[in-house]
Amino acid sequence: MTADDQASKLRRLVHESREGSTIAVTSGKGGVGKSNIALNLSILLSAAGNRVALVDADLGLGNLDVLLDIGVRANVSHVIAGRRKLGEVMIDLPCGVQFVPGASGLSRLAELSEFQRANLLDQLGELESDNDIIVIDTGAGIGGNVMHLACSADRTIVVTTPEPTAITDAYAMVKILMQRRYDGQLSLLVNFASDRQEARQTSQRISTVARQFLGTRLLEAGYVLTDEKVAEAVRRRQPFVLTHPRCPASRCLAALATKLCAGGSLVERRESFFRRVANWFA
Ligand SMILES: Nc1ncnc2c1ncn2[C@@H]1O[C@H](COP(=O)(O)OP(=O)(O)O)[C@@H](O)[C@H]1O
Ligand SMILES: [Mg+2]
Repeated sequence: MTADDQASKLRRLVHESREGSTIAVTSGKGGVGKSNIALNLSILLSAAGNRVALVDADLGLGNLDVLLDIGVRANVSHVIAGRRKLGEVMIDLPCGVQFVPGASGLSRLAELSEFQRANLLDQLGELESDNDIIVIDTGAGIGGNVMHLACSADRTIVVTTPEPTAITDAYAMVKILMQRRYDGQLSLLVNFASDRQEARQTSQRISTVARQFLGTRLLEAGYVLTDEKVAEAVRRRQPFVLTHPRCPASRCLAALATKLCAGGSLVERRESFFRRVANWFA
């Protein structure tokens, strides 16, 4: 065997043995920018050479397909009902990301028979092994659905804004995750920041209270500045990191993507994400 063969065998082994790491993008309050962050972060992680799947798991307000300007004919509910295969509802986005629409239907896992459940989990398991990173847009709030998804992810990013109501709701989210003994990496991201200082003050307010009252150390995922280009891109139904790769919001997200990719901080997964979710719904 040549050195080249050996190297490629090793690469294959590494790839095969590595299950995708999951990142849940969540928030206490709605409208804080989760979907935009999940989508644009996925694109940046994909551009950095990772195989990325983006899962729309927002119950009711799922709108990634609207942001992406794509028509979705079938979603995970159809897979759960046994009418489609997961591969048939996934959409390959031009930016290289695999998009999984309508995954809020996962909350119906509990209604399935043993057989249906095993079949679905097999397909979801393949999604995990086919990708390095799975980004999940969970929707807002501290309801069961969102908490199950956030609790099951290797990394959960709680998005807040500097508004007092968003801060309170972000803290509530952190508190419940801790009560449920969340053992992944929990970090805060401040969106709609007017500058770096406001972002820092916001994240410090939450992390100080979390340390004092919950004994939790929150990681900082950073911040995204308020940027009119984001709203403009939403109106054009295109991701802002593609339409305006150098705008302030894109630069902020690029910093997060770099942080996530650097130094193995993308946590190795311990167990299938979807299996964990299924256990919560069982
Ligand atoms: N950094 C930002 N600067 C300006 N507008 C933003 C920013 N982030 C989000 N928005 C706007 O906020 C609205 C809500 O964002 P969205 O991603 O749909 O939030 P969520 O998914 O949390 O409900 C969008 O219409 C978008 O234009
Ligand atoms: Mg959303």
